[in-house]
Amino acid sequence: MAFSDDDHPVVLITGCSRGGIGHALARAFAANKCTVVATSRSRASMPDLDQDPRFFLQELDVLSDQSVERVLKNVMEKYGRIDVLVNNAGIQCVGPLAEIPVSAIHHTFDTNVYGSLRLVQAVVPHMATKKKGKIVNVGSVTVMAPGPWAGAYTASKAALHALTDTLRLELRHFGIDVINVVPGAVQSNIGNSAVSSYNRMPEWNLYKPFEAVIRERAYFSQRSKSTPSDEFAKNTVAAVLKKNPPAWFSSGHYSSIMAIMYHLPLCIKDFIMRKTMKC
Ligand SMILES: NC(=O)c1ccc[n+]([C@@H]2O[C@H](COP(=O)([O-])OP(=O)(O)OC[C@H]3O[C@@H](n4cnc5c(N)ncnc54)[C@H](OP(=O)(O)O)[C@@H]3O)[C@@H](O)[C@H]2O)c1
Repeated sequence: MAFSDDDHPVVLITGCSRGGIGHALARAFAANKCTVVATSRSRASMPDLDQDPRFFLQELDVLSDQSVERVLKNVMEKYGRIDVLVNNAGIQCVGPLAEIPVSAIHHTFDTNVYGSLRLVQAVVPHMATKKKGKIVNVGSVTVMAPGPWAGAYTASKAALHALTDTLRLELRHFGIDVINVVPGAVQSNIGNSAVSSYNRMPEWNLYKPFEAVIRERAYFSQRSKSTPSDEFAKNTVAAVLKKNPPAWFSSGHYSSIMAIMYHLPLCIKDFIMRKTMKC
């Protein structure tokens, strides 16, 4: 019996390195009969997906137009369509806003905001032709109550949340659903990669006394109670594959607390942040 496109959606995911959310999402989509274009900057970071026919592995750097164009061409040649785009690739950026190099902030926005938009602009023409598709942008609960030491990251995710809301309205006409997936604290490599970028920052002047708490912020989402990425991915994929997916899907440790924080008066939010982030 021939399968229709709806039985086997083609899902393209960015940032699928082993150990991260993208990798867990790739496996969860595949477990739901999807054909998964699993991408990352290096194929070597997805070794376990290599021999599995459910995955089409591609190297993709969200900072590069050529890289995105090449992958899109390969996917269209092979499958003729992309049904779901998951903009998962992202980087954390830790440091006090008054001293962090502007180049580091640029890099964070280039990856988290413009990188996601680059993919959106590449896939929308294909989805619009089919009058069907889903775009998933991976935001963050940190936007619900921006705290100290990760201002650049939070601002980039806030920008992505805003773009997502606009895209949902602008793309509706073309039959494209746009979903903001908003993780709480989920186990991944994000803490380690944040620390390795942090180690390349210059020494702080005014913020030297805060060095330890700033560094600790890199691992804030990676504590023992953080949600396993497989659990997060399973719930997220179930939501995304619904016929009428939600506009906003938040899950993972801290997601309920942050939803409450969002509604608190600023003076209370600030009080809680000062206590937890030691500023
Ligand atoms: N974990 C959490 O608690 C949490 C909470 C809220 C939001 N998020 C968001 O969830 C998403 C996934 O993060 P994660 O936690 O799974 O972290 P992760 O394990 O560090 O994964 C991030 C992925 O993004 C990739 N990436 C970075 N720059 C890229 C680029 N220029 N082009 C292509 N790929 C690039 C990384 O590739 P390399 O391996 O090559 O570096 C890696 O595959 C991110 O958008 C993050 O902001 C995570």
